[in-house]
Amino acid sequence: MSQNQSAAWQNFFRLLVTAASNTDLYSPQHPQVSRLVGKARELIGSLMGSDTRINIMLIDQNIILGKSPLPATLHTIRFVDTLKTRGIEHLSLRGEINQAELLQLILLLAKRQQPPQSPQNSTNLRFGSIDMSRTGQGEGATRVSQPSTESALLHCERDRLEEICSGASKNRPLSVTGLKEIVIHFLQALDQELDPLLAIFPLHKQDQYSFTHSTNVCLLTLAHARRLGLKGSLLHDIGIAALLHDIGKLFLPVDIINKPGKPNDEEWQMIRLHPVRGAEYLVGTAGVPQLAVVTAYEHHMKYDLTGYPTVKKNWQQHLCSHMTTIADIFDALRTKRSYREAMNASKVRKMLSELAGQELHPELCSSFLQMIDEVTIPPSVAQTP
Ligand SMILES: [Fe+2]
Ligand SMILES: [Fe+2]
Repeated sequence: MSQNQSAAWQNFFRLLVTAASNTDLYSPQHPQVSRLVGKARELIGSLMGSDTRINIMLIDQNIILGKSPLPATLHTIRFVDTLKTRGIEHLSLRGEINQAELLQLILLLAKRQQPPQSPQNSTNLRFGSIDMSRTGQGEGATRVSQPSTESALLHCERDRLEEICSGASKNRPLSVTGLKEIVIHFLQALDQELDPLLAIFPLHKQDQYSFTHSTNVCLLTLAHARRLGLKGSLLHDIGIAALLHDIGKLFLPVDIINKPGKPNDEEWQMIRLHPVRGAEYLVGTAGVPQLAVVTAYEHHMKYDLTGYPTVKKNWQQHLCSHMTTIADIFDALRTKRSYREAMNASKVRKMLSELAGQELHPELCSSFLQMIDEVTIPPSVAQTP
């Protein structure tokens, strides 16, 4: 972000906070408030430019715009502190913010509104909280409630994936450019030594399970692929393939996906169709790498081909499918579902090593588990003979 942009954003937050102070002092209808709202609207219009979406995360006392932190000022600190007291940790601006939407934001910032305002999503303005609860890494691990940039990044990309995929179920083409951007962001974060396990620790919310799961599987598979030395377009295609592995689930009835409990036999038959449905959808979508079609089709086949869909005995699964399957199972077991608790890392580790050579590719499973050990065991402990 340039210095000018940074100054303009600071000015935007100053206008909002000042308008909130004037709302407290006079009323939301006061001309001074209207003047400030008008100025803020003009400014945000130019700041958005051609962007259709800007994510604002509130981490500690800082504002993170996209991936850039904004220098803290008295106004930005007040903006963050006040919204956090309303349970807001994430805002998404989607398109041209109108007067009423800006006023709603200002009322949330005003301290003397009675009763206190609660955030309401509108067309161009969405509010969210970042669920920072983390499950432990081992038996004795503690829950951490501190925000982290890792989980904020994942949260942000999950929202983006959800938006991209919302078109898929309505027979609109997928935005392959948007998917590529998610993969690029993950690779940049991994380059900056993001710990993939820390990033995937936030607990899944049931309704967002598929999107959180898909971004988790993507991040884990990318970290694994990089570790194996894969690079360039193959690495990017692997990221997109992992991200889209479960896209076929979008075509399942929502009540099956969100069912609180285990699926019955009939539902299970439908769920088993999602690899084929996903591959069929992706093969007809322009710009999607061939690898994504293959991975969507193969990700439940298992190493010994005992999974689904059923294929000939000599079927050769792609490396990417094997890697996605491993990350898929790891993430699924680490996640709390309505019918079972989340397993801790050591239990999941044990289970994966038992599956290696049967359901999971032995060498790839071993390199995945090595990666997990390296990021979960402190080096001093890992080096102990
Ligand atoms: Fe799946
Ligand atoms: Fe999956």
